[in-house]
Amino acid sequence: MRTTLVTAPAELEQVLTLQRENLRGHVSPEEALEQGFVTVAHTLDTLERMHAVAPSIIARDGERLAGYALVMPVETRAFIPILEPMFQLFDTLSWKGKPLGDYRYYVMGQVCVARDYRGQGIFDALYREHRASYADRYELCLTEIASRNTRSMRAHARVGFQPVTTYRDDTDEWVVVAWDWS
Ligand SMILES: CC(C)(COP(=O)(O)OP(=O)(O)OC[C@H]1O[C@@H](n2cnc3c(N)ncnc32)[C@H](O)[C@@H]1OP(=O)(O)O)[C@@H](O)C(=O)NCCC(=O)NCCS
Repeated sequence: MRTTLVTAPAELEQVLTLQRENLRGHVSPEEALEQGFVTVAHTLDTLERMHAVAPSIIARDGERLAGYALVMPVETRAFIPILEPMFQLFDTLSWKGKPLGDYRYYVMGQVCVARDYRGQGIFDALYREHRASYADRYELCLTEIASRNTRSMRAHARVGFQPVTTYRDDTDEWVVVAWDWS
């Protein structure tokens, strides 16, 4: 198993396959509670455009995709209109007394570990690779998690993410979390 930046277009297609298996409409309510779920469905075109700005991070086990954690710089916000309210909220938030907008931050756009690979440290390895690849360019990594996704909440807290705020929209209640590398 190794974590790397995405390098080949076929890897983005594997990301979409793993994403589809874990979409909230695809997993049962019981599995969503126990194993987590993802909400946003990307298109290949969107992933390719994000990739052109900043490659995402994947974990590979030979030819298999064990997990992914997407990199979404602020410049890519227009690519996914459904996330625009989140970015608008970020524009109003502060971290350690300073507006978020004054930080060099990016958004971790979605994380998923394939079922057979959960509980094996891959989640942590994906974020280690984020830090290794992006800490020179960014001060903060932000993401948001559905508060009922307790598995993801717990894993993010373990890596070092801290809550910034909580809000609710039509789909869920969300906790915005920040990982401060400074
Ligand atoms: C969320 C996800 C990325 C985490 O990866 P993982 O390899 O399963 O995570 P880990 O096993 O390293 O950590 C899970 C943590 O949650 C805990 N946990 C496991 N099941 C849990 C549950 N049902 N409720 C609460 N916590 C739970 C584990 O004990 C561990 O915490 P600990 O280290 O403090 O003991 C992965 O489960 C996944 O891809 N789920 C489906 C998609 C998803 O939810 N993505 C995240 C969207 S925000």
